[in-house]
Amino acid sequence: MKKISRRSFMAAAAVSVAALALTACGGSASSAASSVASSAASSEAVSSAAAAELTTVEAGKLTMATNATFPPYEMTTDSGEIEGIDVDTAKAIAEKLGLELQIDDMEFDAALLSVQQGKADIVMAGVTVTDERKAVMDFSDSYATGIQSIIVPNDSDIASPDDLAGKKIGTQRGTTGYIYCSDDFGEDSVVAYDSGLTAVQALNNGQVDAVVIDNAPATEYVAANPGLKVLDTSYAEEDYAIGMAKGSALEDAVNKALEELKADGTLQAIVDKYINAN
Ligand code: ARG
Repeated sequence: MKKISRRSFMAAAAVSVAALALTACGGSASSAASSVASSAASSEAVSSAAAAELTTVEAGKLTMATNATFPPYEMTTDSGEIEGIDVDTAKAIAEKLGLELQIDDMEFDAALLSVQQGKADIVMAGVTVTDERKAVMDFSDSYATGIQSIIVPNDSDIASPDDLAGKKIGTQRGTTGYIYCSDDFGEDSVVAYDSGLTAVQALNNGQVDAVVIDNAPATEYVAANPGLKVLDTSYAEEDYAIGMAKGSALEDAVNKALEELKADGTLQAIVDKYINAN
């Protein structure tokens, strides 16, 4: 039962949300856009030397597997374009490596497998670092924090993670939300949907009593569905990182790029562009 250890995360989770909110206030949407642009321009010259030595799935390209149903990390616009925090971050990393970003959109569990099978160089999909995943793939340094949140109808009697016992819980297949809820409440209590959105639709239709999903998409889904709310208590705190094949030769270059993007404010500017613009 992982329930107990996760419970102790909750105080920490609250603190990190506060910290995120504080740093968030610093950037405006316009400064975000300009610093992304300028860092993109300046990194181009530096990168070509590094690229020559990098072997990727497709020469000259950084192939990223993702599941673009997870706003604001990756989502598909009405015109069919894939955008989001992970997409902009991957673009910036690719540029630093002198590679062209190629995005392959697929189901979340397939995206995790894709790097393990050598079909993609990286998986960026708000992927949580877990020990089980570390056994089959490598992870970059973490670039964001996620919280497993609980979405319920406004009039629900569910007010804390404990109240999920005996309820039907909707999750996205292959996610940590699915894994934690099956561990804690039994597989029979958990329904796996293709995406967070279809899980939320099932909640709207009364097919499940709650949805457990990462806080950032939870906030967006609830904003778009007036009858639903996100509980204040969080179920688990997690680190997001970039997944790669075990022993991937790209790992050092990816971590170096990520470190530079953190240090020069690009990463924060990207987050501000998608999360804190209002
Ligand atoms: N953070 C969770 C996990 O790693 C959910 C990620 C889902 N991401 C997505 N793009 N659908 O299991």
